[in-house]
Amino acid sequence: MLGNFTYSNPTKLYFGENALDNLASELNNYGKSILLVYGGGSIKKNGIYDKVIKILHSCGKEVFEDGGVMPNPTSEKLYEGCERARKGKVDLILAVGGGSVCDYAKAVSVSTYCDDDPWDKYYLRMEEVDNKIIPVGCVLTMVGTGSEMNGGSVITNHSQKLKIGHVFGDNVFPKFSILNPVFTYTLPKYQMVAGFFDIMSHILEQYFSGDDDNTSDYLMEGLLKSLIHSSKIAVENPKDYEARSNIMWIATWALNTLVAKGKTTDWMVHMIGQSVGAYTDATHGMTLAAVSIPYYKFIMPYGLQKFKRYAINVWDVAPDGKTDEQIADEGLARMEQYMKQLGLVMSIKELGVTEDMLDGIADGSFIMDGGYKVLNHDDIVEILKESM
Ligand code: NZQ
Ligand code: ZN
Repeated sequence: MLGNFTYSNPTKLYFGENALDNLASELNNYGKSILLVYGGGSIKKNGIYDKVIKILHSCGKEVFEDGGVMPNPTSEKLYEGCERARKGKVDLILAVGGGSVCDYAKAVSVSTYCDDDPWDKYYLRMEEVDNKIIPVGCVLTMVGTGSEMNGGSVITNHSQKLKIGHVFGDNVFPKFSILNPVFTYTLPKYQMVAGFFDIMSHILEQYFSGDDDNTSDYLMEGLLKSLIHSSKIAVENPKDYEARSNIMWIATWALNTLVAKGKTTDWMVHMIGQSVGAYTDATHGMTLAAVSIPYYKFIMPYGLQKFKRYAINVWDVAPDGKTDEQIADEGLARMEQYMKQLGLVMSIKELGVTEDMLDGIADGSFIMDGGYKVLNHDDIVEILKESM
């Protein structure tokens, strides 16, 4: 049975090879002052920066730049961005980059006019926004997070060794997002496949939970099958437009709030992965890849029927003559094999985790209660040991 819910997604999407042509008309909806937010320089190398600047100038905008947003953006950087946005009295924050840039833009959007410390208010105390919000627009260059069409904003505080995501309401979602699959062609393979697994993980976090006869589960099985199919093609040929465009669209649907509606969700892989990220600053998708198989093996006995369904419907495991456990195991074995084929990092040791960090990583993993088993500290340490 579906629970009660409200569904609203105000982000306007422009998708395809000519999507950037729509930027000028969107910019006309906002005032003169624009904060252009971007990362460590990829957009300058691949020409996207020049294209965007040209459009901004042709629209007569005054541009304040805020570059250097790092993967896993930090609270220190957030304070800096707020200062810039305040000085420029900006009317729109234009994020040109991946999830980190887009998440950061949302954080600046809600924090610039916040009287409190934004890290404490939004990330530690998880309070709602009660001050002016600066609108955000996005030109996406990296596929995976779904940040282009959701309210998620993940910030890392290195001194507190915490990486925390706040899921803001739809008043913080990007007002528009421009999705051109070709803009993602220059991603290094490591980032590309990390993004692919981030998508898979988002779907699985919502799939392995709330097991009524739920339309969302059928939608997710379709998204997973399409992702597995297209990602195998993209790994062989990163410039296959059909595969890359399908994956870009799957990423958006995986986390634009639709498939979670009316059901409970888990998110424990993300909680552990984010804590690994807080300790190592590793690439988000790789932190998820390294802990997923040990986590799913750990919880499988508590959600056996769903793991069986997953094996049959997603990984085409033939059920005949096998026990439920054998079917479920075979599903996870096929998933593991696929992950290796993509070239994902399968061990947290490889991401820089050492034995002495395990207790701290477990402490920094927020415990969620929507999955098949509510973990305790020792369970997480055990999963982390298996992930080494
Ligand atoms: O910084 P630049 O130079 O741009 O390089 C980036 C960065 O090094 C590079 N890159 C991006 N587009 C490129 C490119 N390089 C060449 N060509 C391009 N077209 O890729 C690297 C990674 O970028 P980043 O934005 O960090 O990756 P991603 O999109 O995976 O974002 C990760 C962040 O999003 C958070 C993660 O925790 C992490 O902090 N998440 C946000 C979510 C949300 N908003 O809902 C949910 C996710 O689960 C996730 O937690
Ligand atoms: Zn993720």
